[in-house]
Amino acid sequence: MSAIEAIKGTRDILPEEVGYWQRIEQVARDLLNRAAYREIRTPIFEQTELFARGIGEATDVVGKEMYTFIDKGERSVTLRPEGTAGVVRAYIENGLHVKGLQRLWYLGPMFRYENVQAGRQRQFHQLGCEVLGSADPRADVEVIALAMDLLAGLGLKDLRLDLNSVGDPADRQQYRQALVEYLTPYKHALDPDSQNRLNRNPMRILDSKNAETKKIIQDAPKIWDYLAPESRRRFDQVQQQLTDLNIAYTLNPCLVRGLDYYTHTAFEIVAETGLGAQNAVGGGGRYDGLVSELGGPETPAVGWAMGLERLLLLLQQLTSTPVIELDFYVVSRGEQAEAQALQLAQTLRRAGFAVELDLSASAFGKQFKRADRSGAVACLILGDDEAANGTVQLKWLGSGDQEALTQTDLLATVETLRHRLKDSRATMPN
Ligand code: HAM
Repeated sequence: MSAIEAIKGTRDILPEEVGYWQRIEQVARDLLNRAAYREIRTPIFEQTELFARGIGEATDVVGKEMYTFIDKGERSVTLRPEGTAGVVRAYIENGLHVKGLQRLWYLGPMFRYENVQAGRQRQFHQLGCEVLGSADPRADVEVIALAMDLLAGLGLKDLRLDLNSVGDPADRQQYRQALVEYLTPYKHALDPDSQNRLNRNPMRILDSKNAETKKIIQDAPKIWDYLAPESRRRFDQVQQQLTDLNIAYTLNPCLVRGLDYYTHTAFEIVAETGLGAQNAVGGGGRYDGLVSELGGPETPAVGWAMGLERLLLLLQQLTSTPVIELDFYVVSRGEQAEAQALQLAQTLRRAGFAVELDLSASAFGKQFKRADRSGAVACLILGDDEAANGTVQLKWLGSGDQEALTQTDLLATVETLRHRLKDSRATMPN
């Protein structure tokens, strides 16, 4: 019978990779907690309408990429393609808006039916944060600063922050009209995708990767010339505050996000090396209209999300897998010794040590080989003699030194052992 394979665009995250994931999660959790963000967990599937209304019918995500199906109750449901819409629904439904400003973060799988390539999957993971209830440009700057600090905290370099303002709906309406007027005479020279977008979603044409289209866009009107004075002022404030925080950015008038809910600030963080074509590590911006669009009160909001698979690709190029640091590897042979080894391992774990117990019941030689490969600092050995007289051999795997002690002494001296383990780890080869 042929083996069943994982679905295209999904991946198993195997134990040797999990260390990276845990590292990203830990750095993110510490950083966001310190900035008073609280984690929120929303369902993985939602009513289709949430995304259709929230993200916009004319977007690629809603138009082509959603995993939508009819459930047994005849409801149209969709696997979430992103986190913001679900967070906003939860914010409204649970009355979080009456509790004042909300700083939230989330992490989890998202689903988009996209062409699969390096850094682009159909099930991928996002880490995101959202600030709901503040129109202050400092909120925009705060979330951007957190994103940059997170990436720096992971040791990532060669990242570029692209910044734009997409104005408010009135600014955009005027701009869209000017853009369509400019592009229409070139309609036949545009790539087919852009031709399609000309009336549906003309601003997305600015994002085209097609060389010919790009040339045409060079002289297109820029959104900045269509920003009302108030929109212009907030764009300037965001830039000034980023500069005050020493956060470098590149202004990019062609930066339009793939989701329709953005107003004013829009940004993307791009890896200049290491990711190939799918080089956006994260993106976000302000979305002042989304909460009311989804049935809540008028609520200004701003946030971002990062693709964890992309962070992982970058991290893997930088550091080797973080491994679990094992203190003891316990080997034993013989019925009585094996029973005692189990007890000893458990007692040491309860005392806070990291302990791996060899369960193979194979010859000592084989167990020793595994002990050497385990990365443990020391090996505990129990054979028939040790079991009979309640002792254990303690072998330091770095130096090969070995000593015999009673099991009671071993447990009585755990604190001293803790220091010896630490010293011995420092001398071990990596
Ligand atoms: P987005 O730009 O669509 O924004 O996605 C954010 C990040 O998710 C991307 O920069 C990328 O790193 C990652 N990503 C997206 N699609 C894939 C994929 N198919 N495979 C791997 N990684 C992917 C949003 O989703 C917004 N909700 C961000 C936001 C939050 N805006 C305001 N608040």
